[in-house]
Amino acid sequence: MLFEKSVISGIEVKNRIIRSATHDGIADKDGAPNEKLIAKYERLAKGGVGCIITGYAAVSKNGVSPYPDMLKIYDDSVIERFKALADAVHSHGTPVVLQLAHCGRQTSSKKIGEQKVAPSNVLHTFYPDKAKELTDGEIREIIDDFISAAIRAEKAGFDAVQLHGGHGYILHDFLSPYGNRRTDSWGGSLEKRCKAVELIIKGIKEKTNLPVWIKLSADDNRKGGMNIASSVKICKRLEAAGCDAIEVSCGTVQDGMNTMRSKLLPMDAVFKYREPCASFPDVLKKIALPAANLINPLIKQPSPLENFNVENAALIKRNVSIPVIVVGGIHKVDDMQSILELGKADFVSMCRPFICEPDLVNKFMNGQQQAKCIKCNYCGLVIEKEATRCLYGKVKI
Ligand SMILES: Cc1cc2nc3c(=O)[nH]c(=O)nc-3n(C[C@H](O)[C@H](O)[C@H](O)COP(=O)(O)O)c2cc1C
Ligand code: SF4
Repeated sequence: MLFEKSVISGIEVKNRIIRSATHDGIADKDGAPNEKLIAKYERLAKGGVGCIITGYAAVSKNGVSPYPDMLKIYDDSVIERFKALADAVHSHGTPVVLQLAHCGRQTSSKKIGEQKVAPSNVLHTFYPDKAKELTDGEIREIIDDFISAAIRAEKAGFDAVQLHGGHGYILHDFLSPYGNRRTDSWGGSLEKRCKAVELIIKGIKEKTNLPVWIKLSADDNRKGGMNIASSVKICKRLEAAGCDAIEVSCGTVQDGMNTMRSKLLPMDAVFKYREPCASFPDVLKKIALPAANLINPLIKQPSPLENFNVENAALIKRNVSIPVIVVGGIHKVDDMQSILELGKADFVSMCRPFICEPDLVNKFMNGQQQAKCIKCNYCGLVIEKEATRCLYGKVKI
């Protein structure tokens, strides 16, 4: 079943293993894919994966990531270069889905050159500058930006778009009572919190023929935020609005290592890539890093480390009839097979294992039983300053 051809929202896939969205940090300055990025995607496509979801692409200028060189699709001038990427992936018989995002509160005003925006001004501990609460008109502009981005994705030949509705980005902030404290027609009840995402889905379906997927943090670990009970209701509403597939994740960037879990914080990477530690003078780092390493084992990390969204995915799957994809700490063939056989999800997806081994699915088909990635999360920190890569064992200060 795992390695058999299948269909998801009308798209033929090579098998039931999907590459979950992964920011690469090597796009051109205008956000378009370049030769280096295309070569990276070709390596993945050749490596046997069933379907690739791209790294997140910003739909608006004020929705850009604080990380360097993300994809951006808010201008028609980039369509041809996105088409080159889609064509290259297709040439290996692999479908490719463009992930669309607006970073909302999870960016810095300095990076985007204007005050960042969000449904509500809720303090973000990693990006503490104040967000401007969106007006009704500005919310409608962002909805239009998502729809225009999907139109560009269709022109570029992508097989579907995936809305980034999780991990604390703007759509998550609309859906979650933690990020959405509004009392107008965009917040308050669950119905009103869903309105922006529903309008985006309906708008894309009206203006394109693309399937629309969404990635959600079914449990966002924020006080008063989204939990599995509200997420099931949200998923039913999004299905009714026309959503074609749901990928189940968890957490927010503010959560640290919940979305992508590791046993320990990669402290040497923290001191190299994460502010303010990265800017400490060397002399301070020499004292602070050994001290941080000493207390590291005492810092409680989210658990379990493996298959951590599977039960939430199973609950969602029981309540919707569209395909459900599950991501998060999945790295063993046996686990993938049992997730599918027990009907807990229709597809499994992975991020970090493919950073480490782009040809992982071919290796699985040749008998390798689990991914080599040790979930150390160095890659999750390197992206704050440099291009994404597997850095296990390579970080030195
Ligand atoms: C380097 C890196 C980049 C990521 N970029 C994205 C992204 O662009 N969009 C997204 O939805 N999730 C992103 N994620 C989260 C992953 O897609 C995934 O949800 C998470 O890592 C858990 O899956 P895993 O255990 O298979 O790594 C990223 C994670 C890492 C480590
Ligand atoms: S740095 Fe490499 S081994 Fe560590 S989590 Fe990332 S991909 Fe896995």
